Amino acid sequence: MSVSKKEPVPDSVSLEQLSVKNRQAWDELYRETDRPVWGNDPVEVIAECIEKIPGSFGQSSRILDAATGEGRNLSLLLNLSGRMYCCDASFSALAKIPQGVRSQTDAACCDLLRAPFQSDSFDFILAWDIMETLPDPFSFLKELRRILKPGGTLLCNVTGKEELKEGNDVCMIDDDSCWYRGRYYLHYMDSENAAEMFESAGFDICEHTCCRWRESAHVNYREETHTHTSTVFLVSAGLKG
Ligand SMILES: C[S@@+](CC[C@H](N)C(=O)[O-])C[C@H]1O[C@@H](n2cnc3c(N)ncnc32)[C@H](O)[C@@H]1O
Repeated sequence: MSVSKKEPVPDSVSLEQLSVKNRQAWDELYRETDRPVWGNDPVEVIAECIEKIPGSFGQSSRILDAATGEGRNLSLLLNLSGRMYCCDASFSALAKIPQGVRSQTDAACCDLLRAPFQSDSFDFILAWDIMETLPDPFSFLKELRRILKPGGTLLCNVTGKEELKEGNDVCMIDDDSCWYRGRYYLHYMDSENAAEMFESAGFDICEHTCCRWRESAHVNYREETHTHTSTVFLVSAGLKG
């Protein structure tokens, strides 16, 4: 990824319009290739983080992979006891979830700012590599807080500016957000601002850790093998609501 010029979003463009444009871009990406854009393997650090979840899961537990994409992390979650759900705004992404995994999961196509789930529904939600794609991450967190049971756990990574590189692929919108390749909205947040946002949305922070991991190239999105750096938040839905 690389930075070139600056192009602010006009005031007349709403967060909702940005979100629609962005969701369309993701859907096109998934449609452009039959191959899995993010690969088949779960992100390894998620397994380590899941071990730290307080409490345990039983058959009646409800688990959601929020913005699952093509479901690369679902096989990890299926090791947990409970009923598995996943959702994404891209129908094309959900259609690419491998059948063996898909058959064990209830999938919903939705905008996660208006999730089609009842309040207090889930014991655990994974929200991986989604926060940085959202023009309105606070409304997203409030929606996840709504659908998590009080005391339920959210595992969510937040990308900081260290992910930005110099070059031509990135056009800055403001100091914290950019268009990547002219079509994908990306937003960066430092861990202090993210922690405040989680707390304002009604979460108690159990822990946050800086994590690094390697990923292979992503077809039609990123050509080279690369290292990701994120702050991974393990938070619980505050009992006060
Ligand atoms: C970078 S991908 C990550 C996918 C998956 N979590 C993973 O780790 O492989 C971001 C995903 O967020 C989805 N997404 C973006 N905005 C969304 C929204 N408002 N509601 C639901 N999904 C959204 C996109 O369709 C895309 O699949």
